[in-house]
Amino acid sequence: MAAGNPVLGALQRPLRLAFAHAEKLLDRVFPGHWNPLYNLGTLGFFMYWIVAGTGIYLYIFFDTGLTEAYDSVEYMTNDQWYLAGVMRSLHRYASDAMVLFMIIHIVREFSLDRYRGSRWFSWLTGAPVIVLLFVSGITGYWLVWDRLAQYIAVKTTEFFDWLPIFGAPIAANFVTPASLDDRFFSLMIFLHIAAPLFLLFMLWIHLQRISRARSNPPRGLALGISAALLALAIVKPAVSQAPADLSVMVTSIKFDWFYIGLYPLVDIWSAGAVWGALAFFGLTLIVMPWMPPMRRPAAAEVHLEHCNGCRRCVEDCPYGAVTMQPRTDGANFDLEATVDPDLCVSCGICSGACPSSMPFRRRSELVSGIELPDFTIADLRRRLHKASEKITGDVRIVLIGCDNAARVERLTGPCVAAVSLPCSGMLPPPFIDYILARGLADGVFITGCREGSCYNRFGQTWANQRIDRERDPYLRRRVPRERIARYWAGPADDRVLAREIEDFAERLRALPAPQAVPDMSVVDKVGAQ
Ligand code: HEM
Ligand code: SF4
Ligand code: SF4
Repeated sequence: MAAGNPVLGALQRPLRLAFAHAEKLLDRVFPGHWNPLYNLGTLGFFMYWIVAGTGIYLYIFFDTGLTEAYDSVEYMTNDQWYLAGVMRSLHRYASDAMVLFMIIHIVREFSLDRYRGSRWFSWLTGAPVIVLLFVSGITGYWLVWDRLAQYIAVKTTEFFDWLPIFGAPIAANFVTPASLDDRFFSLMIFLHIAAPLFLLFMLWIHLQRISRARSNPPRGLALGISAALLALAIVKPAVSQAPADLSVMVTSIKFDWFYIGLYPLVDIWSAGAVWGALAFFGLTLIVMPWMPPMRRPAAAEVHLEHCNGCRRCVEDCPYGAVTMQPRTDGANFDLEATVDPDLCVSCGICSGACPSSMPFRRRSELVSGIELPDFTIADLRRRLHKASEKITGDVRIVLIGCDNAARVERLTGPCVAAVSLPCSGMLPPPFIDYILARGLADGVFITGCREGSCYNRFGQTWANQRIDRERDPYLRRRVPRERIARYWAGPADDRVLAREIEDFAERLRALPAPQAVPDMSVVDKVGAQ
């Protein structure tokens, strides 16, 4: 992980480790890609759809009059408990869950340092989502018009009255029953419908700069969460408190900490202090992507003389940073790849996809059609040779890892030398062939982020598919599969990864000595494999 701001970095490290342990634990409970911590964004979306669906049903029975609202909610909760009542509970609990998933999502993205550089857009467009989600939830509580709504109404208006923006204090609306009119209530209903719609629009924008964005969780996870919410709705239905009565002061209420958890602070501190804290938090969130140091790894570069316009880099780039455009160099291909440096996160996945990332070259310099200037394909070949020279043990393993997962350099020894890449998806499959065919090692061990949690979204998926011959560029059939091992491991998995490597070494020891592989033909032509 790239080093960022030292203060934020000191916060990130323990958080990252805590997430790594929690992810490991949840991986035991949730099979495959179902781990909720890998699906926080998609779960947020899923909660949104539950809230929207149940909200539409509730609106059919909701009476918008100031005096009738409470009774209509009571009717739904008690008389039609089996449907409207359950819908109400689902509406409440899914809204709470959306806040929870969002908060964990923000903290996880922050801990992973995924808010800077080209990722600033996803981070910044998250900020209005936070505001809109709270506006949606708080105005929803208001509509029930019970004691909790009364508390929220009084505290919110007092809080806003601190700002010198309203001519007359809006809290005056809630002084006596006579001072409140239907218009204020209609405004809340309008906000409770408009804010979620705008929220959905902002979520759509939030996903605009990543390719193949997922907005649906895996089906099994979605079913499991739905069942859990339904069970909660039946066991502990959401109910109203006593009806609002502006002639009495609210002294005790049951609280919802997800949406109004900060309200007591207005009394403990003051409205001004809470505004100050919110402004500080909001501004910090907004400027975080641009906090010094502003070091940013160089974006991928295209070398036209090695690009045949095959589009593989476009297909594999997780951040939509590569596009094709008409050829500009007169070569006999229609299209050429072009990189938008503002979108590129320097993961190197594109160079893992390029057919020109072919290490078996003798006559010409090794250059790929697309590669990272700070870590070229020629650098990779050089580092592999250097790593291979360090191995002195009875069995020789090259361990290829990723900078964002388990630290492979900690796992080296007489039998193991390591090379770490910006992402496991940067490894072109011909390099595995090359390591074994050229006798650089007896086996290749590939590791990277835990299954389903790739730091660069698709690096691990593409690496798996290329090795399993499901995705171009395929690993050649002739490569002995028993000499390749894969284990996806996070930063907290050093020990288990070490054990897996040791097991692999044992398996390699039991194999007959590697067969001499016929030397590969010299491949210099663009796109040849
Ligand atoms: C409930 C509200 C939110 C939902 C439903 C949501 C959903 C998502 C989804 C679905 C993704 C894409 C995941 C993928 O396909 O890889 C994503 C990415 C991201 N989100 Fe959110 N998000 C929410 C709020 C926020 C907030 C408030 C922030 C930060 C202030 C934030 C920061 C990010 C970042 C930085 C990424 C990009 C990660 C990357 O570059 O791979 N999100 N979000
Ligand atoms: S390094 Fe390549 S794959 Fe990664 S974001 Fe940049 S262009 Fe896309
Ligand atoms: S040859 Fe390489 S750089 Fe050119 S389009 Fe194909 S993958 Fe991209």
